[in-house]
Amino acid sequence: SADIKKKLPLVNIKALVTAGPTHEAIDPVRFIGNNSSGKMGFAIADELARLGADVILVSGPSAQKAKQRSVKRVDVTSAAEMLEACQQYYADAGICIMSAAVADYTPITVAQQKIKKQDDSALIIETKKTTDILKYLGDHKQEGQLLIGFALETNNEQQNAVAKLQKKNLDFIVLNSLGDAGAGFATDTNKVTIIDRHLHKTSFDLKSKEDVAKDICIKVISLLKK
Ligand code: CTP
Ligand code: CA
Repeated sequence: SADIKKKLPLVNIKALVTAGPTHEAIDPVRFIGNNSSGKMGFAIADELARLGADVILVSGPSAQKAKQRSVKRVDVTSAAEMLEACQQYYADAGICIMSAAVADYTPITVAQQKIKKQDDSALIIETKKTTDILKYLGDHKQEGQLLIGFALETNNEQQNAVAKLQKKNLDFIVLNSLGDAGAGFATDTNKVTIIDRHLHKTSFDLKSKEDVAKDICIKVISLLKK
């Protein structure tokens, strides 16, 4: 009922979430992509919606489905499309959580026809960097907006995550420990450390992505109260 909804902590707040991989076309039938399932981002979108937020979920190609019917899903394929969708919804969003595994590079040209294999030469695909969506949003952040990113690292994890937090003007970053079994891409569990802009660090146990989403939302709510 309306009365119950009023008590939820994120009522009347718009949230923008990204999820999944992006696919960067090489030719009509091939792309550069990655193993991201989208599970973490969908779990975050669902939890934000459960807490009362109006959620826009910009998702790359993913088999996931949001559980909360109020989540508005915007499907995109490439990093360029994801950027465009985020630009469209960013100004109104009080909370932005970018969990997508965006391709860092995209082919400079997309072959109009399927590339045929050649007898003996190697195939070289020239690529250029995609726009860093999270950094773009950080550079355009307005007073009162909360911007949260993820970091996937295999070495110097905390140092690299702090560098991303600062470079991208984030309120906090969720560091993924992919090295641990059962954490990261295409699994149902994740092990994260949250690092905020005061460099306050909280390391969590391995848990379901739904429970990681709850921890992230608890941090969001604590920052909104400040
Ligand atoms: N990200 C983004 N747009 C990109 C690349 C990354 O929005 N083109 C976001 C991701 O969604 C994530 C954060 O930036 O929230 C960090 O992504 P990650 O791949 O860990 O870091 P990068 O900055 O891309 O650096 P690198 O891959 O070289 O470690
Ligand atoms: Ca990257």
